[in-house]
Amino acid sequence: MAYINENYLKLPGSYLFAEVARRVSEYKKNHPSADIIRLGIGDVTLPLPQASIDAMHKAVDEMAHAETFRGYGPEQGYPFLIEAVRKHNYTDRGLDIAADEIFISDGSKSDCGNIQEIFAENSTVAITDPVYPVYLDTNVMAGRTGTLKEDGHFEGVVYLASNAENNFCPALPKEHVDMLYLCCPNNPTGTTLSHSELKKWVDYARANDTVILFDAAYAAYISEPDVPRSIYEIEGAKDVAIEFRSFSKTAGFTGTRCGYTVIPKTVTAKAKDGSRHPLNALWNRRHCTKFNGTAYIVQRGAEAIYTEEGQAQVKENISYYMENARIIREGLKTAGITAFGGINAPYIWLKTPGGLKSWDFFDKLLDTGNVVGTPGVGFGPCGEGYFRLTAFGDRENTERAVERISKLKF
Ligand code: MLT
Repeated sequence: MAYINENYLKLPGSYLFAEVARRVSEYKKNHPSADIIRLGIGDVTLPLPQASIDAMHKAVDEMAHAETFRGYGPEQGYPFLIEAVRKHNYTDRGLDIAADEIFISDGSKSDCGNIQEIFAENSTVAITDPVYPVYLDTNVMAGRTGTLKEDGHFEGVVYLASNAENNFCPALPKEHVDMLYLCCPNNPTGTTLSHSELKKWVDYARANDTVILFDAAYAAYISEPDVPRSIYEIEGAKDVAIEFRSFSKTAGFTGTRCGYTVIPKTVTAKAKDGSRHPLNALWNRRHCTKFNGTAYIVQRGAEAIYTEEGQAQVKENISYYMENARIIREGLKTAGITAFGGINAPYIWLKTPGGLKSWDFFDKLLDTGNVVGTPGVGFGPCGEGYFRLTAFGDRENTERAVERISKLKF
């Protein structure tokens, strides 16, 4: 007799974006002629940078000849990509990260979801609220939580409210936690922590023997100088933090899949006997056992974003999306809707007009405006009454969506 992992039964029926897609396709079935504008899931719409396309074509040709063909690559990633990442995002910025502290993967969603495997099952977990649902859901699956309570919180999880009242800078946990997830720029609020704010979290982690799991998937969108691009800009972070980065939002790799995780060898955690172990070695063991590396062709495409022309193309795409963000932000303001984010991140977090609950606003917007967004409560109980719009749409649709939202009566 096979038994299931009953932790899965604690989770709500479907993953947030699967539920959004289900509702939209149901609506479309009943309203086949509806002209729906999708600003829900944060999926890019611009094509890959030409530099990546050229590099991938070349890599495909290499695969066609025995002398240049590649089979299994290093599980941790090819040195050419590791070195490009290291130079561009760390060494050139004065951050000392070694090549064997960088693990190339098929995207940071998988890494953010899988990282919890290297921690003890009874580890305590803190998440900011609202936040990217993968952190919580994967810890529920792993049995680190109790059940879902009526107020939308899982038993045994420390939720750190992030809202307009605290300027989207959640208070530090009052208690000790073992694992602490931070997303900066934050998905879904599009807000950030300054250097001095992030320093408080690093100091907390150092004082409490906590590991920070820092998701910087949107780092490329930061425009303000006081927002750290990497947690390793903060003194002491190399002892307590793991960082996740992605090519998805940076360079349009959502479908192509490439990301990386940085685990300095100085980040350690305890075994039951009190001995300390580097998490880098544990992750390396897991990575080699469960993962066979990202495709060579994809890694060549990712490497190409660090060339001069690649950087110019990436910058252009990011500017395009951030202009969308400005259009949404200002359009909402003109319509009298309170909104946050959209300065250092491609997400706009709006307060639902008329005090509507997040899913009610979702339904109303879909039904009367034919615009899809993401209900805030899907990112955590503190997201109730909020709604997320993405700036990743195309310009015309973004402008049309703002116009439609402005015309709605609540
Ligand atoms: C989002 O919309 O929050 C993201 O696209 C989801 C993801 O990156 O997996």
